[in-house]
Amino acid sequence: MASRLSILGFAGSLRQGSFNRAILRAAQELAPAEVELKIFDLAGIPPFNQDLEKDPAIQVKEFKAALRAADALLIATPEYNFSIPGVLKNALDCASRPYGDSALDGKPVALMGASSGMLGTARAQYHLRQCCVFLNMFPLNRPEVMVPHAHEKIDAQGRLTDAATREKIAELLQALVLWTRRLQAG
Ligand code: FNR
Repeated sequence: MASRLSILGFAGSLRQGSFNRAILRAAQELAPAEVELKIFDLAGIPPFNQDLEKDPAIQVKEFKAALRAADALLIATPEYNFSIPGVLKNALDCASRPYGDSALDGKPVALMGASSGMLGTARAQYHLRQCCVFLNMFPLNRPEVMVPHAHEKIDAQGRLTDAATREKIAELLQALVLWTRRLQAG
């Protein structure tokens, strides 16, 4: 039997009724049996200040430890003004510092995103892929999971009800497992 894989998921939204947090919870339900998917809440990560990068806040230390413990990452990003939210960018900035001590280096990562708009975070996801280049992360190319009109697919209890989207997220996780094992095998 294949060894277990640990995936750390986080969403770039702090909103209680966040669609992106909802699709992350759905990913937990849809993960293959060999996967343990933990969710990290970015609330509490303070704005990055380079003066403090060598002794960061406890939340940053916890985030970096959780990233390091994970075999792979799953990021659910909203789209804010055609890019990724500051909350997500700030968390990535914090985790990448100080120079030479990034907790993101070499990590396989799958991206997804949900938006009330019609492009389902496509523009934000391509900005996020650009950040992955400098961070030396390894984003999975496909499937792309962009969830447009999210308000029609997530119910009042925050459950993803759209069958096609659930299927896509399940496919994304299966592909992330294969991608991670391939990278681990060298
Ligand atoms: C948005 N929204 C949005 N949607 C989109 O498709 N493209 C965009 O550029 C933006 N820009 C944007 C900026 C700001 C500041 C806010 C607050 C919102 C709408 C966005 O998709 C919607 O609020 C989602 O619900 C945000 O994700 P969560 O919080 O539900 O996960």
